[in-house]
Amino acid sequence: MQLKKWIVSTLTVIVAVLGMIISFGQPQQVQANSNNRTLIIYFSMSGTTKAAAEQIQRDTGADIVRLQRAKAYPKGYDNYARVADRERRRNTHPAIKRNIPNLNRYDTVLIGFPTWWQQPPMVIHSLFDIYDFRGKTIIPFTTSMSTPMKASIPTMRRLAKADGATIKQGFRYDNNNAQLRRFLQRNGLLQNNN
Ligand SMILES: Cc1cc2nc3c(=O)[nH]c(=O)nc-3n(C[C@H](O)[C@H](O)[C@H](O)COP(=O)(O)O)c2cc1C
Repeated sequence: MQLKKWIVSTLTVIVAVLGMIISFGQPQQVQANSNNRTLIIYFSMSGTTKAAAEQIQRDTGADIVRLQRAKAYPKGYDNYARVADRERRRNTHPAIKRNIPNLNRYDTVLIGFPTWWQQPPMVIHSLFDIYDFRGKTIIPFTTSMSTPMKASIPTMRRLAKADGATIKQGFRYDNNNAQLRRFLQRNGLLQNNN
């Protein structure tokens, strides 16, 4: 009887330990209501789009990464505007840093940029050249003096479509955080504890 008890309890311990070892190697379950399948990629020169992206990060809990030209734009508005203007006129896709995390981990990607000459900056074209957004949902966002998001949408739609991604409406951030939260809520991205 004692031996039987000993065998049963020993087997129980072995099964429990094996279970722990097996589950340790498994990918962790994605938690409901968390945005750990959402990534924010933003480009920003003078910090306005950076602030927008960081507000979105706080509201969503998503991962965030800054898109950067491989060779930084020259400092000073006139200087970087001149280089950017040349890129735009010549349709140059400037080299970018390869710092974007593995996109396989994400379903939804928010892509933010300042509107330049009614359009996304050319680094956004470079982003789509290098990274594969197939199957992702892309939500563009922009900051600008006045140009609305919709000015950049045809370009963003073309880039997304060529990659096999779905594009959503997008929005222009103008420091109105209540409006931003409503937008995120409509898209199911607002984190519950906000
Ligand atoms: C080269 C350049 C072109 C711009 N073109 C526009 C434009 O077409 N429409 C607009 O409303 N604002 C335009 N702006 C203003 C920027 O979109 C705005 O200041 C933006 O918030 C800057 O974002 P950042 O601080 O993240 O770089 C332009 C700014 C620059 C530098």
